[in-house]
Amino acid sequence: MVALVQTVAYLGLEARGVEVQCQVAPGLPAFNVVGLPDKAVAESRERVRAAIAAMGLSLPPKRITVNLSPADLPKAGSHYDLPIALALLGAMGIVDAETLASYVVVGELSLDGRLAATPGVLLAALHASGRDLGLICPALQGPEAAWAGDIEVLAPGDLLALLNHFKGQSILTPPETGVAPEPDYGPDLKDVKGQETAKRALEIAAAGGHNLLMNGPPGSGKSMLASCLPGILPPLSPAEALEVSMVASVAGTLAGGQMSRQRPFRTPHHSASMAALVGGGLKVRPGEVSMAHLGVLFLDELPEFQRPVLDSLRQPLETGEVSVARANAHVTFPARVQMVAAMNP
Ligand SMILES: Nc1ncnc2c1ncn2[C@@H]1O[C@H](COP(=O)(O)OP(=O)(O)O)[C@@H](O)[C@H]1O
Ligand SMILES: [Mg+2]
Repeated sequence: MVALVQTVAYLGLEARGVEVQCQVAPGLPAFNVVGLPDKAVAESRERVRAAIAAMGLSLPPKRITVNLSPADLPKAGSHYDLPIALALLGAMGIVDAETLASYVVVGELSLDGRLAATPGVLLAALHASGRDLGLICPALQGPEAAWAGDIEVLAPGDLLALLNHFKGQSILTPPETGVAPEPDYGPDLKDVKGQETAKRALEIAAAGGHNLLMNGPPGSGKSMLASCLPGILPPLSPAEALEVSMVASVAGTLAGGQMSRQRPFRTPHHSASMAALVGGGLKVRPGEVSMAHLGVLFLDELPEFQRPVLDSLRQPLETGEVSVARANAHVTFPARVQMVAAMNP
């Protein structure tokens, strides 16, 4: 029989639905994962095997095939562990297939069956809410998932706790939304002494959303002035806060499931590579310009940046988004930033 579990693949700020299909068929014992898995997904076989063994169950001595559908979409990340494990348990007849059908599942498994946090849970939760499904995610990320609104969130600490919940032996309590901390505005513009022209320029830039270049000798307060900018920008609207949190969620920096209400202030070092600044690399993660979305990107010592790196910022600054083209995927991250640069004469 074939068991089905819903999960997602992350493409930029989009979570696309992926179906995990598992078949246990007679034949030589084997455990294969197909459907364009990357290294982390292919390795999930070992984690799933160990986690199931840790519960005192053993895999059937049969031919186990897991397919991640659509098969032509590249799958990356470790969040496929839990959906693969649940599909396998479904195919083994341990978990009821109908129960599984009403959830989107994400989470990484440890060898002993505990669930570890993976980036992007907020996106998975919004995806689940759009499809009227519940979400199963690691306990640590329950508060993050709960932000998606009135969807059923199951956030077990380990695989066994989830199975006990399904059996009705010990019901999981729904997680509370992480409390959004009061924004910390950083240094106050009133602490800057003198520098009336610079302060006026900063205020005009804040009011009009302009980019700004400061030119002055070392120690004249350029870095200090730049760090005052987030404090004089208007507070994030709830929709903007969600966008900022979604970027933080895919980057895996949303601490404690707390929604971020702060305007980001990013200060990449001048030795930063193009991938670090605009995103991309082996795993497509948002770069500094996307992490600064709806906030401030401060480039200190502007002339020290490599020329190609600065040129790569041209497109995001013009269009407000970054497109990273990969061999077989194309992802877009938002990047509406206010750029502040500083240099010595
Ligand atoms: N106008 C100013 N008002 C108050 N403090 C200042 C002022 N200018 C400089 N400082 C102090 O000097 C330190 C160095 O300034 P910094 O912003 O790092 O200068 P720069 O980036 O231009 O080299 C700051 O930490 C700040 O405390
Ligand atoms: Mg400085």
